[in-house]
Amino acid sequence: MTVPKNDPAVRAFRDTLSMFPTGVTVITARAPSGEPIGLTVSSFNSVSLTPPLVVWSLSGHLPSVPIFENAEVYAINILADDQQDISQRFASRGDDKFAGLAFTEGLDGVPVLPGCCASFQCRQYARHPGGDHVIFIGEVVRFERDVAKKPLLFQGGAYQRLA
Ligand SMILES: Cc1cc2nc3c(=O)[nH]c(=O)nc-3n(C[C@H](O)[C@H](O)[C@H](O)COP(=O)(O)O)c2cc1C
Repeated sequence: MTVPKNDPAVRAFRDTLSMFPTGVTVITARAPSGEPIGLTVSSFNSVSLTPPLVVWSLSGHLPSVPIFENAEVYAINILADDQQDISQRFASRGDDKFAGLAFTEGLDGVPVLPGCCASFQCRQYARHPGGDHVIFIGEVVRFERDVAKKPLLFQGGAYQRLA
């Protein structure tokens, strides 16, 4: 049975989850055509140090699911607190989210966004079904950080900054 998203119990669950503050990432990859793709994701977290593993989850109804499932490599870009516009851009439906946006190329040409706090380039390690989401576990093969930047935060359904 599918429970509608506007069900009061689902809304209450979601609102309660939103009390947990997270950072904001944009996860990027290359479609088979070579086109860069990406979306805003807050479900990122660490899993293991050896091997270096991270986790994130992708809503199962999104058109990018088969692209991420088939991508050997993806990048997790941790947004800085002056990149709220980038978060909004990648959280909106749009044919060309990368229009006018500079990026560098990492492993296998994966797009890496400039100006971020940190980034992790990952190889697919495992995927698991997770209810209405697909859980991705990535093995980190490259990472970098800019200690001068502060992270963008998300809590209570709104963007926040470190005090
Ligand atoms: C702060 C924030 C966090 C988000 N986190 C996730 C997430 O963890 N997983 C997910 O599937 N969608 C998440 N989304 C929603 C996607 O970014 C949004 O559905 C986006 O439009 C998907 O890209 P697409 O429309 O190109 O498929 C988040 C959105 C915002 C604003």
